[in-house]
Amino acid sequence: MSGISNSGAILVTGGSRGIGRAISLELASKGYDIIFTFNSGGKEAEKTLRDLSALNVKAESFQVDLSSRSQIEVFTKKMLERDVRLFALINNAGIYQGNTLNEIKDEDWEKVIGLNLSAPFYLARNLHRIIMEGGSIVNISSVYGFRADPWAHGYQASKAALIHLTKGLAKELAPNIRVNAVAPGYVRTDMNRGGWESESFNSRIKKATPMGRWGEPEDIGRAVAFLINPENTFITGHTLVVDGGIGI
Ligand SMILES: NC(=O)c1ccc[n+]([C@@H]2O[C@H](COP(=O)([O-])OP(=O)(O)OC[C@H]3O[C@@H](n4cnc5c(N)ncnc54)[C@H](OP(=O)(O)O)[C@@H]3O)[C@@H](O)[C@H]2O)c1
Repeated sequence: MSGISNSGAILVTGGSRGIGRAISLELASKGYDIIFTFNSGGKEAEKTLRDLSALNVKAESFQVDLSSRSQIEVFTKKMLERDVRLFALINNAGIYQGNTLNEIKDEDWEKVIGLNLSAPFYLARNLHRIIMEGGSIVNISSVYGFRADPWAHGYQASKAALIHLTKGLAKELAPNIRVNAVAPGYVRTDMNRGGWESESFNSRIKKATPMGRWGEPEDIGRAVAFLINPENTFITGHTLVVDGGIGI
C-alpha cells in the first residue's frame, strides 16, 4: 500500500466527513496512518486527506459504495492483495432514513440494512485476518439501537442488530481482536443538519440532553480512541453510549 505503514494502519469507513472525519483526525493525532473510504463526496475526501497529511501521518482514501455487495468485494480484495496490516477497522459509514411503514420502499429498506449492517459484517468477515493481534473493530451504532421512533424502522433495526453483531464478533475474535461499538446520541453533522439548524428542534434536543448541548463529531472520535487503546484490553463486546445523557 502506497506509503501506508505496515505496523498497523486504521481503516475508517465514511471517513471523509462528519463523525468518520473526526475519528480519522483523532486517531491520526495519535500517530496512526489512516485509510478511509468515501462514496460521493470527492471534495470532502480530498480536504480530509490534506488535513490528515498535515498531522504527519500517511493517509489514503478509496471511493467505494458500501451499500453494494460487489463494490465491497472489489475493495476488500484490494486491501488483501496489498501488504497492509490494520490496527483497527472502524465501521462508521451509515445513512439515516426516517420513513413509516407506508412510506418505506423495498429498496430503501435494503439500502439502509445493506450499508449500516451488512457492510460492517462483510468488512469484518473479509478483513479480520489482516487485523493485528491486539487490534480492534469498532462499529458505530446509535442510541436508536436501543430506542425507537414510530418511523426509521430500517435505521433503528440496523443499529440494534449492529450492537448484537458486535457481541458475537467479540466472542469469536477474542482474544486476538477486540470488538466494541459506540452509540452516539444527537451529533451535529450533515446527517441531521435540518435538526440542528431548526431553532425549535435544536432547543428541544438541548433541553432533553442533561449535558445541555448537541454532541460534536470529536466527542465520538475520542470515544473510539479510548476503545482501541491497547491499554484497555479487558473491554470487548461493549457498546459505549456517548449521548450527553439523552438516553438515561
Ligand atoms: N450524526 C448523528 O447524530 C449520529 C447519531 C448516531 C449515530 N450516527 C452514526 O454515525 C455514523 C456517521 O454519521 P455522520 O453523522 O457522520 O453522517 P454523515 O455526516 O452523513 O457522513 C456519512 C459518511 O458515510 C459515507 N457514506 C454514505 N453513504 C455511503 C455509501 N453508500 N457507501 C460508502 N460510504 C457512504 C459518506 O460518504 P460520502 O459523503 O462520500 O457519501 C460520509 O463519509 C453513521 O453510521 C450514523 O448512523 C450518527
